[in-house]
Amino acid sequence: MGCSIATRNGAKKEGYADLHAGACPSGRLQKKEEEMKVLVTGGCGFLGSHVCEHFRKEGWEVVSFDNMTKYELKRTGYGTEATRDFNWDYLKGLGVEMVKGDIRNLEHLMDRSTGTDYIVHTAAQPAMTISWEDPEHDFTTNVTGTFNVMQAARAHNIPVVNTSSIHVYGNSINDSLTESDTSYERDPVSIPETQPVMVGEISPLHASKMSAEHYVRSFHDMYDLKSASFRFTGIYGPRQFGGEDHGWVANFVIRAVFGLPIRIFGTGKQARDILYAADGADSYLKFFKDPQPGVYNIGGGPEHKISLVECIAMIGEILGKKIEVSIEAERPGDMRYFICDISQARKFGFDPKIKPREGVEKLIRWVEENRKVFEVKA
Ligand SMILES: NC(=O)c1ccc[n+]([C@@H]2O[C@H](COP(=O)([O-])OP(=O)(O)OC[C@H]3O[C@@H](n4cnc5c(N)ncnc54)[C@H](O)[C@@H]3O)[C@@H](O)[C@H]2O)c1
Repeated sequence: MGCSIATRNGAKKEGYADLHAGACPSGRLQKKEEEMKVLVTGGCGFLGSHVCEHFRKEGWEVVSFDNMTKYELKRTGYGTEATRDFNWDYLKGLGVEMVKGDIRNLEHLMDRSTGTDYIVHTAAQPAMTISWEDPEHDFTTNVTGTFNVMQAARAHNIPVVNTSSIHVYGNSINDSLTESDTSYERDPVSIPETQPVMVGEISPLHASKMSAEHYVRSFHDMYDLKSASFRFTGIYGPRQFGGEDHGWVANFVIRAVFGLPIRIFGTGKQARDILYAADGADSYLKFFKDPQPGVYNIGGGPEHKISLVECIAMIGEILGKKIEVSIEAERPGDMRYFICDISQARKFGFDPKIKPREGVEKLIRWVEENRKVFEVKA
């Protein structure tokens, strides 16, 4: 493979104990941006496709490494094949090197990451519902897969960011909420990384995402890798084939555009600081430029707070139509509220720009322009 294995560095890493390590200068920036190469696992997924696009626009060489299963697409009712291939074709058109590969196959991953300067790891089983139904699939994808990604980064001694989720905090946050007419509320509004994790009801998805974070940290502490886990809030934007399992903003937009009723599980007052995908993609670039190992909440912050019913009302207003909504029982393990305190991520340059209304308008436009890929069934 022509690269050395990073060896254990016994030095104590104060930073992770404190959740954030000090800045590590990246010698790799001595290379020009057009000579840089990033491997994006899950590059054909929603977030991964935005990461690929963002780095291409910055002049990087980009490799997408994705097994193309898109497990949950089968459950959305959209045309699975058409939606699965949409991002592949789009990225190919941007000059991204497309690799069909599985992160559970270490040898293949090692091989395709050789010669890269950075790994952005977005491949995952991301849905809580699927994790209850098939915990083994969740475990092998999220834990074994992330472990392999870390092994590859270690072998090449390159920075790596793991995409985690605010779900690792657990749903005990539900105990600290009040309610307004349209939203759950909390004081203080935003939640920092020092919030205790895994408190409340824990699903296999919580367990696998947290395990992955532990491995990411251990590869920093033992091998001095410039690694981080980004705990993302709800992300939304074009190329998101959201359904009831995952991707609620897109699910609402798609169903509203097609005039189909929307099912809400719980009161509809569940709130998030939704983040537009291009802003999410930029967080990985900012980290590369100023890599400070640790865990980070990545979301829109308090200015991006919106509840499910507020989001549906906004979509209805933009489309100028009344949207039919039905209410179902709350799903077990649901986290009713999360608004990120993003002050730590701001230190390496993260700065979300697109506000919810502007982002939702862009998403609506994209769905309207691409109606034919959905083949939505009621
Ligand atoms: N979308 C959100 O709102 C959100 C919120 C918080 C965290 N996240 C995290 O962001 C990441 C990306 O989520 P997304 O919404 O883009 O999901 P997605 O399902 O659209 O993308 C995941 C991609 O990973 C690929 N993949 C799955 N298993 C693989 C494997 N074994 N090998 C290679 N590729 C594989 C899939 O084919 C898919 O293209 C996940 O880690 C998820 O947990 C997403």
